[in-house]
Amino acid sequence: MPAKASRGKTFSEKKLTAEVLGRIRKTRDARLKRVMTSFIEHLHSFVRDVKPTPAEWMSGIQFLTETGHWCTGKRQEYILMSDTLGVSMLVDALNYAAGEGATQSTVLGPFHREQAPEYPLGADVSKNGTADGEPCEVSGTVRDTKGKPVAGAKLDIWEGGADGLYDSQKGDDMNLRGVFRTDAQGKFHFRCVTPTFYPVPHDGPVGRMLTATGRHPMRPPHLHFWITAPGYKPLITHLFVKGGKYLDSDAVFGVKPELIIEFKKGKDGLTRARYDFVLMSEATGRRKTRAARRRT
Ligand code: BEZ
Ligand code: FE
Repeated sequence: MPAKASRGKTFSEKKLTAEVLGRIRKTRDARLKRVMTSFIEHLHSFVRDVKPTPAEWMSGIQFLTETGHWCTGKRQEYILMSDTLGVSMLVDALNYAAGEGATQSTVLGPFHREQAPEYPLGADVSKNGTADGEPCEVSGTVRDTKGKPVAGAKLDIWEGGADGLYDSQKGDDMNLRGVFRTDAQGKFHFRCVTPTFYPVPHDGPVGRMLTATGRHPMRPPHLHFWITAPGYKPLITHLFVKGGKYLDSDAVFGVKPELIIEFKKGKDGLTRARYDFVLMSEATGRRKTRAARRRT
């Protein structure tokens, strides 16, 4: 039997969204269907709200294209876009609901590197001495929510230097980063440099977006931590320097008051900071995350 000739359809602006949603009704993966449905609905609402001209819509597409072109192994412009639009912190808030005194999480950022060197407790992650910044000692403990020390917890730490740059931005090899493990009492200590404020990379499309919207690209002084231990929910966080610049206007919205601590310079010229991290058990983490998602 010859195929029935299609008469085509004209979609009115009002019916278009329903038509597009109808086309994805057979999506087998339930989660994908939920994500795509919401994405289409929100995207259409956005267009109805903004009413872009064709030229404006095209410049939006060009902006996304350019953002993709800026991405390399060492530069992830889309992560930067997500960070500077507050989306990374929103995803974090929905997935890492710290409770029972557990340490708050914050944004990962683009400068973590796999395979940082593992050092014994007390080692200095700065390879260039004072050329990297002012000497600093960070110490503390890792415990669970009941106060029990977590022995052998892995602390992966990284930071930029006094010039505001990370090793990967200068072609340096694994500087100002390292892995430490807590001792039997859950204690750690290491040397680094006193964190300084610095700008997120802003020579690309995301930088242009920040300038065009009247924003600065700066982050307050901070030190990154990624702490893991078997049976505990991984904790990605920072310690921020109390009194540091830009604490109130972090370009990536990562500051939480609980993570701001004193970095105190001693008479011996060494700055010292101390923090006791609290990890959530994996089971508590899952429960809290489900509850946080239900609340939204
Ligand atoms: C950082 O702290 O390393 C960072 C975080 C988000 C975007 C850019 C940099
Ligand atoms: Fe950073």
